[in-house]
This record gives sequence, C-alpha cells and structure tokens, in this order.
Amino acid sequence: MIETAVYDTKPYDREYLARTAGAERISWRFHDLRLNAETAHDASGAQAVCVFVNDQADRACLKELSALDVKLIALRCAGHNNVDLVAAREFSLVVVRVPAYSPHAVAEHTFGLLLTLNRKIHRAYNRVRELNFSLSGLVGFDIRGKTVGIIGTGKIGRIAAQIFRGFEANVIAHDPFPESDWAKAHGIHYTDLDTLLAASDILSLHLPLSPDTLHLLNAQTIARTKPGVFIVNTSRGKLIDITALIAALKSGHIGGVALDVYEEEEGIFFQDLSGQVLLDDELSHLLVFPNVLITAHQAFLTQEALSEIARVTTEDIITLGTREPFLAGTTL
Ligand code: NAI
Repeated sequence: MIETAVYDTKPYDREYLARTAGAERISWRFHDLRLNAETAHDASGAQAVCVFVNDQADRACLKELSALDVKLIALRCAGHNNVDLVAAREFSLVVVRVPAYSPHAVAEHTFGLLLTLNRKIHRAYNRVRELNFSLSGLVGFDIRGKTVGIIGTGKIGRIAAQIFRGFEANVIAHDPFPESDWAKAHGIHYTDLDTLLAASDILSLHLPLSPDTLHLLNAQTIARTKPGVFIVNTSRGKLIDITALIAALKSGHIGGVALDVYEEEEGIFFQDLSGQVLLDDELSHLLVFPNVLITAHQAFLTQEALSEIARVTTEDIITLGTREPFLAGTTL
C-alpha cells in the first residue's frame, strides 16, 4: 500500500479517486486543508503527496516534505506554477502532473462563459424567476463575423479556436510555437501579440502562467486592445493585472470580462464563504460590475475530466512517478 496524503480535497475528488482502478493499492489520506510549508507535516508517513492548483509547494514546503521522506508530488492538474521545480529537483522529489485530462471541458466552459456574458443569460435567468420579462439592457452581439484572438494554441486553445470557427468568427492566434498545419486546416491566422490585441473583438487566454506571462494583460497591453473588447480567461488568474483590468472596466474601455480564474483566488475559490465578509477588495469590486462574470475555477469540472485526472493520478502514485515522470526542473 502506498501511503498518500491528498491535500485540498473536495467530495468529488474523494469519489473519483476512490473508485478508480488500482485505487485499492493506495492508502488515501484525504485532507481538506491546502498544502503549504505550515501544513506539510500532515504528510508525515506518506510516500506520495497529491495536490491541486492552490496548494503551495514552495521551497520551504518541499524541504519539509523531503525531510519527511516523501518521494512523489502528484499534481491533480495540468498547470504546475505552484510547485518550485528547481527546489523539487534539489530535494530529489519526483513531480508528476496530468498533462491533459479534458481540454474540451475547459474550451467548452470558455464558450459557456462568453455566451452567458454576451447574451446576459445570467441576468435574464434571475429576472425571469422574479417574473420580470423585460428585455431592457439585455442586448448582446453575434459572434459570427467577430475577430477572436486566441493567445496560446496548445491543447485547450486549439479546441476553443475551432469552436469559434464553428460560430463563423474570424480567428487569429498568437503562440511562440505556432501549429501552422492546424491553423491552415481551420482557416486560422497566426500573428504577433500587438496585432492580435489591436484587432480582436474577443480575447481568450489559453497560455500557462510563467515569469514571462505574468500580467500579460496589464495597463499597457489592455490600452492596445479594441474599445469594447470582451476578455475571457480560463487559464490562470495572474495572467491579468486585476488593478489594470478594473481601471479599464471603470473607464468603459473593456466591454466585458469573463473569468474562471482570479489573481488572488487562493483561499477564496473552492471555499463556501457565503454569509462571510469578503476581504478581497478587488474581487468585491469585480463582482459588482454588470459586465463581469466569474466562475470559481470550474472549467475542468466534468465527469470525463475527473475520471481522467483520477486515472492518471492513481497510476502515477502506484508507479511512484516512474510511468511517465515529469522530471522536476524540466522546462516544458
Ligand atoms: P498547453 O501546454 O497544451 O498549451 C499552452 C500553449 O501556450 C502552448 O502552445 C504554448 O506554446 C503557449 N504559450 C506559452 N507562452 C505563451 C505566450 N507568451 N504567448 C502565447 N502563447 C504562449 O496547455 P493547455 O492544456 O492548453 O492549458 C492552457 C492553460 O489552461 C494552462 O495555463 C492551464 O493552467 C489552464 N487550465 C485551466 C483549467 C481550469 O479549470 N480553468 C484546467 C486546465 C488547464
């Protein structure tokens, strides 16, 4: 039996992990709390630690895990910006992730957010339940014929781009590693970031967070976007400077913002804080804009994605990362 400390777990994590083939070979220790340097000692006796997007596996935390003789960090997600890979290598900790579980889940949620925001379905839903059948203030726009800028054409970005093509939008894309054959096959054109920002009616972010992409959308880059632009971010919160975003929403430059991720989501997203005072002033501010729609990092949350995450994570733990190790320190 492989003793595994699973941090930041929700009922659906427990359900899907416990029923995966091979799960009986693992002794699961489910924790509600998130992993960080203070909570790392709860992994005492475990060979593997399983974490999600808001666990903080920084140097201090990894040092503690290594001292506890933990061998493997298994991320139940694709993004790995919350793990200090250099420190993990130094402490001989193997790090694995689930590189792809359902890119369709995220791409489809991107579209769900955009359609809801643009056609004001969230507002209409509430109105109709109050027997208010007025259409005032519910005007949206056709996506057909609009220019959509996809930033990052990896697994999720390519599917999102194809969905937009299905709506007969013009799709332009930016990625340091363009997929030229794919783009040609789907009538999509690559361009540089500045051209994309200036030309897009809708911007959709599908790139990883790294020191290079931190605050990709900031006061300067947002100023280069088209007035009335709609921005959708289902990737990572810190890709957008929230202060600059709020300023551009207040000035009316931005037409709408749909977010599944938020710069400071740790400690807020995935929690039920209803009835409490929200201490994050910027999030409080964002929530009152009529043209901002936020979901709490749920783009991945489909049955298919949860099954795949559980399958890959279980296999990785059983083999202690030797199946397909994502070596700590490797640049992806
Ligand atoms: P991927 O690795 O397949 O693709 C990422 C693409 O971004 C690559 O083609 C890469 O070349 C490109 N890229 C890197 N730097 C760039 C830059 N400066 N400008 C433009 N493109 C750049 O990743 P995948 O699976 O498509 O995921 C995309 C993002 O979605 C990740 O950041 C991940 O964290 C996020 N994600 C969010 C989820 C959610 O539930 N909201 C779930 C899964 C992933």
